[in-house]
Amino acid sequence: MESMTFVLFGATGDLAKRKIYPALYNLYLDKKMPSTFSIIGVGRRDWSDEEFQASIVKSVRTFSRRTQVESQQMDEFVEAFRYCAVDVTNPQAFIPLLERVKEREAALQIPENRMFYLSVAPEFFEVISSNIKTSGLGTTNGWKRLIIEKPFGNDLKSAQLLNEKLSAAFEEEEIYRIDHYLGKPMVQNLEALEFANPVFQALWNNQYIANVQITAGETVGVEERAGYYDHAGAIRDMVQNHMLQMLMMTAMHVPKRITANDIRAQKRQVMEAVRPLQKEEVSQHVVRGQYGAGEMLDKHVVGYRAEPGVQPQSMTDTFVAARVWIDDPYWKGVPFYIRTGKRMKEKSTKIVIEFKNPLEQLYHHQQEKPAPNLLIISVNPDEGIALQVNSKNPSNSGKIEPVTVDFSAGTKDVPEAYELLLFDALRGDSTYFAHWTEVELSWMWVEPILEAFRENLVPLHTYPAGSNGPDASEELLRADGFQWWLDK
Ligand code: BG6
Repeated sequence: MESMTFVLFGATGDLAKRKIYPALYNLYLDKKMPSTFSIIGVGRRDWSDEEFQASIVKSVRTFSRRTQVESQQMDEFVEAFRYCAVDVTNPQAFIPLLERVKEREAALQIPENRMFYLSVAPEFFEVISSNIKTSGLGTTNGWKRLIIEKPFGNDLKSAQLLNEKLSAAFEEEEIYRIDHYLGKPMVQNLEALEFANPVFQALWNNQYIANVQITAGETVGVEERAGYYDHAGAIRDMVQNHMLQMLMMTAMHVPKRITANDIRAQKRQVMEAVRPLQKEEVSQHVVRGQYGAGEMLDKHVVGYRAEPGVQPQSMTDTFVAARVWIDDPYWKGVPFYIRTGKRMKEKSTKIVIEFKNPLEQLYHHQQEKPAPNLLIISVNPDEGIALQVNSKNPSNSGKIEPVTVDFSAGTKDVPEAYELLLFDALRGDSTYFAHWTEVELSWMWVEPILEAFRENLVPLHTYPAGSNGPDASEELLRADGFQWWLDK
């Protein structure tokens, strides 16, 4: 891996402390950082290098997945960090930053490979990328890369505008858009599951699959983020990005080669085949919910509208379920159901594939129909793959009962999403980053839903905190003769 400089904007922020420094540290311990690297933290505060380095030691000790932190390695690691206070809206302030970057490049003999990570509020994306360009920071005789994290706009138009601005300073191949769900090991593993297993690949189509269910449930409520969330809702916060990314990863077809370009091309084809919704028909395919008060782990929690910072009459969706059709020859006729919500019963992200059972009639003499075969991909918090099959139970008069074959690997010491993603960005592998066309197609699909919500064409169902969402979400599947599996 080539030596490089990592310029982190938002170096004193929360994401940096919780995720980025621990991830870099773990990469360093795993010898997955370049042999020489320089990290320049950029923030507003007037910190010295020493204060900055001390804050990094603290964040690694607090948030790293590794509990043992060796002092010597820690000292070597933080020695690579320097700090530069910059008002990012002031182009002049980028001059000393450039000097700092160059000074360290010279001292450590690092070629001009520069990675810029914008761990800042989205309103600063444009100004920073433009100042990187005009200051000359982005003029290198090595490579340059930009890492940004969602939200990429808050509707189709603003996303397109943002992309135009970023494109003025960086090429598409240089932009690494983080969707942290694409960094989850099990989401990455979908590729191997589908393509490295002929057994599954043979079944991965509408001849054998009855429906696909993708759920990302959370137990937390809006927390302290009402200012953002009350304008975003689950549709922008989770569906436009994480849920559709999981859908693309699940539904993509075999690429020619396992490369970033080919995999992303397959994902794009899925999104292109997703049937667009007309505003007027959104209510037939999309369920909107908002949590009310309820009991969670024997504790009473307030409803969304009573949360601090939320408008008392807020119509914001904290739950969305949707039926998605992919009109291509592989998936025609197979509904993909997606569902996500806050204050649900369980923190759990799962993809469940329900297989068809053409032989069901053979067992008509049994009181109950045999259960369907299910392939259960657990993404979060536990990771694993399980297959539900039918088997005779000798201790129950040979009755056919579902049993689960569990392929879960141990989950100890698994790298975190940010480690996997940063490692990929460092070596220039963009497979698990969102390409602009994926983002744009996702916004296009979501746009009529946003309109329908805004115009109240879709009922807003209240669901009790601690439940599986509104009954209307059960109804969505029941109408097709299905049910959500694995709801406890
Ligand atoms: C973020 C959303 O992108 O994903 C949050 O903004 C949400 O609202 C989070 O809580 C969920 O991520 P995870 O990894 O905990 O499932």
